[in-house]
Amino acid sequence: MAEKNIILPVHIGFIMDGNGRWAKKRGMPRTFGHREGAKAFRRITEYCNDIGVKYITFYAFSTENWSRPKEEVDAIMKLFKEYLLEANDLTEKNIRLVFLGDKSRFDTELRNRMTDLEDKSRDHDGMTVALAMNYGGRDDIVYAVKNVVHLLKENKISEDEINEDLITRNLYTGDIPDADLIIRPSGEKRLSNFLIWQSSYAEFYFTDVLWPDFGPSDLDRALEDYASRGRRFGGV
Ligand code: FPP
Repeated sequence: MAEKNIILPVHIGFIMDGNGRWAKKRGMPRTFGHREGAKAFRRITEYCNDIGVKYITFYAFSTENWSRPKEEVDAIMKLFKEYLLEANDLTEKNIRLVFLGDKSRFDTELRNRMTDLEDKSRDHDGMTVALAMNYGGRDDIVYAVKNVVHLLKENKISEDEINEDLITRNLYTGDIPDADLIIRPSGEKRLSNFLIWQSSYAEFYFTDVLWPDFGPSDLDRALEDYASRGRRFGGV
């Protein structure tokens, strides 16, 4: 378990990458990798809750992922349904669940399940688990700009009130603080349109471990690495 007194990031973002390769290495279909990836999501959520991380965000499905073969997209949607049904027990642990992204692309059943979990856990003050689904960082900024334009048109704000803080509060992440640490397994070293506004000052941790294999000991390594970095936020 992560060393006591270690400086924990307040908000960790996870890019759940490498499911397809994990399955391929075993001669299995890609969807099998996603199933194992979903188990890793549960494992890491529970561990973060145990060690006291306040906010975690998972990149579960990007705005670009719809271009994958229909069979794969359907299998991921099926997994979302299964896991979001199970997620009831997370809300019983005082966890707040939020979904980042445009829900309107999902079918009614999934959309209702997402809204129901958000409504049910809105006032929970334990860990916040954000699932980025049909999410893109650029789309997030467009969403915030539209919200701000709306406020302006309704005369709820004036032009000189438009600042970084206002944009931040109007993103899908709303009151969730900026990401402190972004973890990307599977050997790729890019952000892939994940939390681009929110990770301006984030630390990045890359590992070759594939997401389905990612567990508490891998997270501990990332946290130790994070704790050893000097964050200056542009100062000296
Ligand atoms: C990226 O790996 C992974 C995805 C696009 C899907 C992530 C979805 C899950 C882990 C499933 C369920 C999640 C929840 C929250 C229930 P990849 O397919 O791009 O892997 P590759 O780079 O090896 O091909």
